[in-house]
Amino acid sequence: MSHILGIDLGTTGSTASVLLDDGKLHSVPSVEKTHSTEKPFPSVVSFFQDGSCLIGDSALEQSIYNPIGTIKNVKKHMGTPKKFKIFEKEYIPQYIAALILMKIKLSAEELTKEKFEHVVITVPAYFDEAQRRATREAGRIAGLNVLQLINEPEAAAIAYGAHKISSKTRIMVFDMGAGTLDVSILEAGSSDAAKAFQVLAISGDNELGGIYMDDLIKDSLLRSIGKHGVFSSSDEIDTDQENIQHSPDTHKLDDAVAVAERKRLGYQLDIIAENAKIALSTEEKITIDESISFEREEHKLTTELTRKEFEKMIGELLRRAESKVTDALANANLTSDKIDKVILVGGPTKIPAVRNMLKKLVKEPESDVDPTFAVSNGAAIWGAILNNDRNLPVIYKGVALLSVTARDYGEKMRDDDGNISVQLMIPKNVPYPTRFTDIFYNNFRNDGEWRPAAPIDVWTGNPNFQKPHDFSKYKKIGKFKIEGLKHGISNVIEVTYELDNDQILTVTAREKGGDAYAELQIDPDGSTHQTGRMIEDLRKDAEKIERKTRAWMGGYEVPPEEWKTPKNPKYCWMCECLEDAKKILNAHHEDCREFFKISTFRLFIQQLEKQYAFAHIQLTHPDYRIGVHNALKEDTHPNRRLLTIVLVHELLHALHPDWGHNRIIPEERRLANLAGYFDAFIEMDRIFLSGKMSLCNNHFSSDFDFKEINCD
Ligand SMILES: Nc1ncnc2c1ncn2[C@@H]1O[C@H](COP(=O)(O)OP(=O)(O)OP(=O)(O)O)[C@@H](O)[C@H]1O
Ligand SMILES: [Mg+2]
Repeated sequence: MSHILGIDLGTTGSTASVLLDDGKLHSVPSVEKTHSTEKPFPSVVSFFQDGSCLIGDSALEQSIYNPIGTIKNVKKHMGTPKKFKIFEKEYIPQYIAALILMKIKLSAEELTKEKFEHVVITVPAYFDEAQRRATREAGRIAGLNVLQLINEPEAAAIAYGAHKISSKTRIMVFDMGAGTLDVSILEAGSSDAAKAFQVLAISGDNELGGIYMDDLIKDSLLRSIGKHGVFSSSDEIDTDQENIQHSPDTHKLDDAVAVAERKRLGYQLDIIAENAKIALSTEEKITIDESISFEREEHKLTTELTRKEFEKMIGELLRRAESKVTDALANANLTSDKIDKVILVGGPTKIPAVRNMLKKLVKEPESDVDPTFAVSNGAAIWGAILNNDRNLPVIYKGVALLSVTARDYGEKMRDDDGNISVQLMIPKNVPYPTRFTDIFYNNFRNDGEWRPAAPIDVWTGNPNFQKPHDFSKYKKIGKFKIEGLKHGISNVIEVTYELDNDQILTVTAREKGGDAYAELQIDPDGSTHQTGRMIEDLRKDAEKIERKTRAWMGGYEVPPEEWKTPKNPKYCWMCECLEDAKKILNAHHEDCREFFKISTFRLFIQQLEKQYAFAHIQLTHPDYRIGVHNALKEDTHPNRRLLTIVLVHELLHALHPDWGHNRIIPEERRLANLAGYFDAFIEMDRIFLSGKMSLCNNHFSSDFDFKEINCD
């Protein structure tokens, strides 16, 4: 097996690690990381009206411009019947999680230049059967074989190397993430050598974590601009309950605009609040100085926040966390002095007050655990162990957690002579998780007619399949049909038996070369589930997005080497657009004369990430940046017109800062009309409103590497 990817699929952010041939753990970087949530992959997906989507960092960035299309915090909905309704389409949580996993998979492929098929994914210890099943399904929709789901605290303890501790050691893993707190007490070095750890107790709260702290900061910011009460404290509530449909009914449209505006405000504040919180982990005092737009007005947010004030704000959350630590100890029947080690996991554990709380309550936490990557590192180590990886560092060797099958599993078939037997698929005494595929043929009916459906019979038995025809030794545990088999395709059915770590047996049947597909899941208790078709269809959808994303990730539209050269004649046409835009204003807009006399302009573009390049006009005074969709970078007639009209928009805002950003003003319509550019204007309007182009993008820092377009 190739390398195994370990993925920590988090509420706000996800990480991935892999153990490579150098025997070292590598965390997978995101190629486009520019935003908050410290983990490299924000767990965010942003859909557009045409069904296309952005995933991860670019989706987080777009959330402000495309609030109604954006889905965050999907982990909270795994295993529930929740459906996200966006632009009249419905998405199930597994599908959203799958897109995030898929983006991570592609980023890992960028890192190692190899394909990843197998993963270990971590889940909170409290996740129930439905939540675990949904996480597995997400993996499959992403085109990944989930070797095993392991509990987050156990992964963190593996990364810490706790299983090598020979004497009996009790470890408390305090994992405070974005949305949940998990406190687990594990025992390592216990007598059962087959087990790395024994979980003594867990406790937690799935509404406690970083985002609730952000909410408190958001509340205080809203108060400072007199907008408190605009929405309920959690953006999650907005996102979930205010799903809207586009409707020609104007009344509904007004509601829709209001909802979108509220979400947009929420998303802007999310980012500001989160940045403030993170900064306060290392600074005693910070200054927030941002402008946000809401209901077509700009609001200046200028305030100071000290660490002391922040600690006071989150006091109640900390008290609740404290009580969960006490609960875990009580559940394990232990007093705090019986805990040998405390391991901190999750972003908010970087907050000094959180660390101090643990120190006071239990003991000084270990300092050599990386709270951001511990969980995915543990998953990657576990993957390498399952894979029998010879590069596994010595300290992780020798953890025998593999279980072996207690029975044979097989498939009922009829041979050429008409004898019925059971074909062995997974034998007894092999380590699981495991899978095996074999080929079967569809029979014609006795009357020579084609059979469009074939039965799949799943059997289990205890003795080796020495006497395949002796059915008294076997028991039928499941039965399903593969339907829609077409004559003249291949007549071959591939049947796969897969036994996962939880002893759930999944049997799939696929028509080779055709479309027919069916599957059955059989739990250890004998209950059966049939969800395969839906998952398979979603996989096809996800594959389309995967192909597109791969193409984006693959090639820069502006090749990096071109990026380095200071002058690039290829982009000079953009300067000509700037000149044209100035001409339009000079001809039709009185107010600009004086302004043009005293200002100079330079045009820059910036490769912000792969889907977008950002154009940036620098004036002698304020800077205006505009997002230019990739397609705009080619010198074509429509692109020239479109960029010109976008630049008119920007220049107008430079001229009239009080007209507010992020909206299209009547003057622009007038100018576009007078200059005969109305079609370009409509196009801009459409792209802008779809959220695919971020106009007047003041939310970007100027730290980025801008490239000047210089035609002189
Ligand atoms: N240096 C920091 N100081 C304070 N908070 C931080 C810091 N770094 C990250 N965070 C916060 O940690 C949270 C994310 O933590 P983490 O990535 O562990 O959660 P998650 O895995 O997404 O969520 P969960 O474990 O609940 O599924 C965010 O709220 C983020 O703002
Ligand atoms: Mg986490």
